[in-house]
Amino acid sequence: MATTFTRTCKRVIGVRAFHASAVSNAETKLKTFSIYRWNPAASNEKPYMKDYNVDLNSCGPMVLDALIKIKNEMDPTLTFRRSCREGICGSCAMNIGGVNTLACTSKIDKDVNKQTKIYPLPHMYIIKDLVPDMNHFYAQYRSIQPWLQREDSDGHGSQQYLQSTEDRKKLDGLYECILCACCSTSCPSYWWNGDKYLGPAVLMQAYRWIIDSRDSQTKVRLEKLRDPYSVFRCHTIMNCTRTCPKGLNPGKAIAEIKKLLGNVIQKDKPGLETTALYK
Ligand code: SF4
Ligand code: SF4
Ligand code: FES
Repeated sequence: MATTFTRTCKRVIGVRAFHASAVSNAETKLKTFSIYRWNPAASNEKPYMKDYNVDLNSCGPMVLDALIKIKNEMDPTLTFRRSCREGICGSCAMNIGGVNTLACTSKIDKDVNKQTKIYPLPHMYIIKDLVPDMNHFYAQYRSIQPWLQREDSDGHGSQQYLQSTEDRKKLDGLYECILCACCSTSCPSYWWNGDKYLGPAVLMQAYRWIIDSRDSQTKVRLEKLRDPYSVFRCHTIMNCTRTCPKGLNPGKAIAEIKKLLGNVIQKDKPGLETTALYK
């Protein structure tokens, strides 16, 4: 047994030694990232693609790691947003290899014979390089009044609002949205009518408040959406659901709003009256 152990150790040590020398002598593994560059503030500058060769041996596994490496070591002028580095803040949303997604949760394609092309989210005004202007998107989000509203409150809340377990479950798959806008900017209807059509991200949040059992402004919320553009520009193409990096289904949420607007379904009565605790 002791002999076996010693041999195994030698083998392991030998492998480690080999691995260490292999890494130290490793040839660089250069991967080309072709990145959209444009500074609209610079007069006469037109958008262009710039190639950066990154050694994957000294780079983290995610596309955001490569972008940070490029910015730190090669080109400090490259501009992009990022914060959490773990798919929570939504700020690193961009188009990578033709797909709207988050740079921090997208693995680098290790095939060095293929370039990875990176663009900002499509059909958005550009502030610089990979940074889109999100003001219109946030204004649309503000327009749906994304907070709990009750007729019996002055807006400040005077008590704990109760909710049954079943009613709480209805918010699953909705509240997890990080407002990255990957879905809205992959939606052809939003590309062409983004001024009046609210788009999948905002509509899914509208639905999140419409079906919340504690919210009593359901009718008002629905009436605000009753026009030819706000909701009904969705043609169920489902690009939104396909691209969502959080695995959510905004296309389904929009379909549910349409059913409520058409009186095909009604909002359920709350399973638990919110004042039950105080009666
Ligand atoms: S399902 Fe509706 S919101 Fe989603 S991509 Fe298609 S048209 Fe856009
Ligand atoms: S639904 Fe998904 S893709 Fe759309 S904003 Fe939310 S997290 Fe992003
Ligand atoms: S850095 Fe926050 S989601 Fe990517």
